[in-house]
Amino acid sequence: MSVSIDLSGRRALITGSGQGVGAAIAATLAEAGAEVFVNDLVPERAEAGAAALRSQGFAAQAAAFDVTNLEAVTESITAIGPLDILVNNAGNAGGDGWTAMAPFHTTSPSEWNKFINVNLYGVMNCVHAALPGMIQGKWGRVVTIISDAGRVGEPSMASYAAAKGGAAAFTRAVAHEVGRYNITANNISLGTMRTPLSEERWANISEADAKVVLQRYLVRRPGLPADVAALALYLVSDGGEWVTAQTYPLNGGYSVAL
Ligand SMILES: NC(=O)c1ccc[n+]([C@@H]2O[C@H](COP(=O)([O-])OP(=O)(O)OC[C@H]3O[C@@H](n4cnc5c(N)ncnc54)[C@H](O)[C@@H]3O)[C@@H](O)[C@H]2O)c1
Repeated sequence: MSVSIDLSGRRALITGSGQGVGAAIAATLAEAGAEVFVNDLVPERAEAGAAALRSQGFAAQAAAFDVTNLEAVTESITAIGPLDILVNNAGNAGGDGWTAMAPFHTTSPSEWNKFINVNLYGVMNCVHAALPGMIQGKWGRVVTIISDAGRVGEPSMASYAAAKGGAAAFTRAVAHEVGRYNITANNISLGTMRTPLSEERWANISEADAKVVLQRYLVRRPGLPADVAALALYLVSDGGEWVTAQTYPLNGGYSVAL
């Protein structure tokens, strides 16, 4: 039996896909035949990501905008045209020069807002702009990348956890509204990953500290972007149609090790 997933004719927007997890998802969906729109807040990342995919013969275009800006999101998604697939991947856990993680009582509302804006409102903005086209086309796939911080909690990540937990609940609620149009909406909840967001930490971690972190995982390595792309590919496929309103832990077995 040969199994393959064909996304020919599908148009997919992957937010924050200029690097890391998003870039791997964009590459995998493009390889499966989808036309992909590489979004990023940093225009150079979006351009470079789309150019790299085009150089491999895939259909890809850059779509640089800030997911926290509803006006920009709506304008950009309207310009792109109806989408079949939306992967809400753009997020920030304290990278790109943001304040380091800290116990909640030492943080301020301006810091909370940063986490909520990108990790929750970013998802709501994109879903709001993308759903009408999916409903009209009577087919759609929404995948939201959350974090185990939002699913089970993590110290010094309370605002991030609140935003990711909110995004997961939001995605599941939307699934209830749109299932009748053959639109599914699911979350993928990531454990500790090795991506540009966390590269500095992994590059400088001592062997002893790495052992402590990885002890929480049955498979003793950090997650990699390709791990996420494999599950996302299934969820956005035709075959994923009867899977909706779920949150999938993708974390080397962290959940059962808790
Ligand atoms: N890295 C981890 O350990 C980890 C763990 C759990 C969950 N996650 C989640 O996985 C997702 C991807 O993380 P990553 O590790 O690949 O991160 P990353 O920082 O390597 O890449 C994220 C990309 O999103 C872009 N981005 C940030 N804010 C944006 C905005 N407002 N609008 C558009 N683009 C924006 C960034 O410019 C960056 O290119 C995020 O949602 C993150 O919260 C990551």
